[in-house]
Amino acid sequence: MSQKKIIIAIDGFSSTGKSTVAKQLAKQLGYIYVDSGAMYRAITYFAMTNGFIDENGFDVDGLISKLEDIHVSFKFNKDLGFAEVYLNGINVEKEIRTLEVSNFVSKVSAIPEVRKQLVKQQHQLGLQKGIVMDGRDIGTVVFPDAELKLFMTASAETRALRRYDELKAKGDDVSFEDVLNNVQERDHLDSTRKDSPLYKAEDAIEIDNSNLSLDEQFDKILKLVTMTLED
Ligand code: DC
Repeated sequence: MSQKKIIIAIDGFSSTGKSTVAKQLAKQLGYIYVDSGAMYRAITYFAMTNGFIDENGFDVDGLISKLEDIHVSFKFNKDLGFAEVYLNGINVEKEIRTLEVSNFVSKVSAIPEVRKQLVKQQHQLGLQKGIVMDGRDIGTVVFPDAELKLFMTASAETRALRRYDELKAKGDDVSFEDVLNNVQERDHLDSTRKDSPLYKAEDAIEIDNSNLSLDEQFDKILKLVTMTLED
């Protein structure tokens, strides 16, 4: 493929398969893959394990006062073929994927101070281009000039079933109803928050994958990448 390096921004609701296609693309192109949702999840996990989120509620100011001490980073895992997320030097890739973290992450990611810190870090990661980043505001806020923007969609039921299967496969004892509720609740919170809500950038290409196999989806997106690289 071409030597030209671009930024590929992938946005969409939860469990629309953003990370699957982002990983495939990064591998194919030799690009860096950054899961920006993992960064918000890591901060949420920090808040939950440091007493800022408990049965008494959420101490937002307390978390904000500690933001300087939270360091989120990525380290490439050769065996897995993607970069895992680290919180203050500790691998938290598994811990951040639980339903408990999912239930709080939209509240944490709605805090402007949290977003400001992570967006700054995301900009740094994209300085050299050659990056695929997925999230909610990548094409709208983080990289508004990204050469290729994708907006992934699928029905809430399809997405909840995917997430439910993933959690079950990991041995998590969850019900489909709880997962569906979480998906719908996050859709609502992520697209109605004041700071950087999720919406499709005007120049993003929408991919509805409710009825696409992974191979069909990848072929379709790879064609778009090739066209962008030839531009
Ligand atoms: O992609 P994910 O489901 O792992 O993301 C977790 C949450 O993080 C999601 O509900 C909203 C938030 N998020 C965000 O606000 N902005 C991003 N760029 C990525 C994720």
